[in-house]
Amino acid sequence: MSDLIEDPIAGGSAPQAQGQKTHPKKIRVESESLKKLREITAQAAAGGPPEKIAAQKAKGKLTARERLSYLVDENSFQEVGLLVESHCTDFGIKDRHIMGDGVVTGFGRVNGRPIAFFSQDFTQLGGSLGLAQAKKIAAIMDLAYEARMPVIGILDSGGARIQEGVDSLDGYGEIFYRNSKYSGVIPQISVIVGPCAGGAVYSPALTDFVFMVKGVSNMFVTGPEVVKAATGEEVDFETLGGSHTHASKSGVCHFVANSEPDCFRQLKELISFLPQSRYEAPLPSTTEDPFDRKVPLLEKLCEVDPRKAYRVHHIIWWLSDEHKFLEVHHDFAKNIVVGFIRLGAQVVGVVANNPAHLAGALDINASDKAARFIRFLNNFNIPILTLVDVPGYWPGVAQEHGGIIRHGAKLLYAYSEATVPKVTLVLRKAYGGAYIAMSSKYLGGDLNFSLPSAEIAVMGPRGAIEILYSKQIKEAKEEERDELKTKLAKEYSDKFASPYQTASTGSIDEVIEPAEARIRLINAFAMLASKRKPGAHNHTGNIPL
Ligand code: HXC
Repeated sequence: MSDLIEDPIAGGSAPQAQGQKTHPKKIRVESESLKKLREITAQAAAGGPPEKIAAQKAKGKLTARERLSYLVDENSFQEVGLLVESHCTDFGIKDRHIMGDGVVTGFGRVNGRPIAFFSQDFTQLGGSLGLAQAKKIAAIMDLAYEARMPVIGILDSGGARIQEGVDSLDGYGEIFYRNSKYSGVIPQISVIVGPCAGGAVYSPALTDFVFMVKGVSNMFVTGPEVVKAATGEEVDFETLGGSHTHASKSGVCHFVANSEPDCFRQLKELISFLPQSRYEAPLPSTTEDPFDRKVPLLEKLCEVDPRKAYRVHHIIWWLSDEHKFLEVHHDFAKNIVVGFIRLGAQVVGVVANNPAHLAGALDINASDKAARFIRFLNNFNIPILTLVDVPGYWPGVAQEHGGIIRHGAKLLYAYSEATVPKVTLVLRKAYGGAYIAMSSKYLGGDLNFSLPSAEIAVMGPRGAIEILYSKQIKEAKEEERDELKTKLAKEYSDKFASPYQTASTGSIDEVIEPAEARIRLINAFAMLASKRKPGAHNHTGNIPL
């Protein structure tokens, strides 16, 4: 079959002068070839067989392409490798002609910004990773790296394709290698929307952020059956490696969503805070929020009992543009809070002790959580705001034996290494080693402010007087002891734990009016925007900590 259509260029002759009559020439279009192209494309784009798609839907899951359609701007997706097939001759894989080999790869725009994607298709061989799939993923990662854009992996897979043997393991190797090599150069994000088992979990773990969906996502190195055989423990998929487990216990997961559409909405929000690569800064936005808006909550904080717990989120909301805060790792190590805000329309990363949990003390998980986030911020040119209210390191045998020395050191390292603008505000307590760790002046804090209510000292007044005045306290009458302790603690506090003492040595640059904190921070970051550390290594990889 063929059609005749009119060729408007009329065989390539010179353009006609205005008003002159044209004589369109009839040309022959090979509609068979067009038909074939359209058929093959439609077949490849359909993914797996209808019954597998129905099974996917029955589990409440979206297909690989539907997921992309939630993320990319309309008509912006450019697919790469649609027709790639496996060349594995074993188990009849090649003869099944699985077009695309279980993954959709390509580029699209997200709110106008180019982003690279791969989205595993569970309806084709369970999204399992064979060599051809791995090469598609590696190729899109290479292009993202070379074109300097983030890469987002959407994972829904049974893991290494068993039929392809070691080839599929090598395929994972290619991906892990790129995850590591491109770490800190382009943002890498993983979205787990199905199983993610075996060594496959290590690709997401090497990326900067991991999203999971309640009741849909699972991640584990060995599944419940292997666990039972090896250790005798009985555990279900959800308890072993569901979103709650990884968001609150292991810390593998940074964001949990209630549904896939909710997950993609959160992902788009995260992207809005990130630059395309380490060679750029995040795009500024616009805001109606007055830069000089007062923060009365901080005045209030100066009046309350210093032992009273509060959620530091309230302070972050009050400081940030339009009271918006995108928290990262919300359920993990709640004693430290990290995430993104905008201050005066500029993206800023926040690291804040949270007195509502473990009194805001630093422990192993808090140190790891904050250190990795700081390294991400530093790699991607995002300034750091540190809000300090920390009584010290969390004590205990479990912490010491678990390596608080080793893990706490990561936080010191991350702050010292970071060359992006660093502004610190001491809200209340800043004691001992934890005071130093929380972006103090001597770890390279550029501007260190304090509220007048801050207590900055080598240790808390109560602990200090027990050591300094132990004899006097022991000798005091039982009924007078409490009163004596209170008096001594106040004297110590007035003398040593005030911000004025620290400001007099230059460790605090200024004690500020609490209500003016927002404008002071905005001005500080605006002035530091052009900061450069000569000779410093400005960027590193974002090694999982
Ligand atoms: C090949 C696989 C596969 C795999 C699933 N399939 N996993 N094919 N290799 N690893 C296929 C199934 O045979 C089936 O094919 C289709 O995908 C759907 O799978 P179902 O089992 O029907 O689906 P479901 O009941 O939802 O169970 C999903 C599952 C289960 C929990 C993921 O399939 C499973 O346990 N798979 C194995 C998981 C695993 O052990 N992976 C680790 C591999 S080793 P048909 O033809 O029926 O559609 C590994 C090491 C990596 O990953 C190391 C990297 C360094």
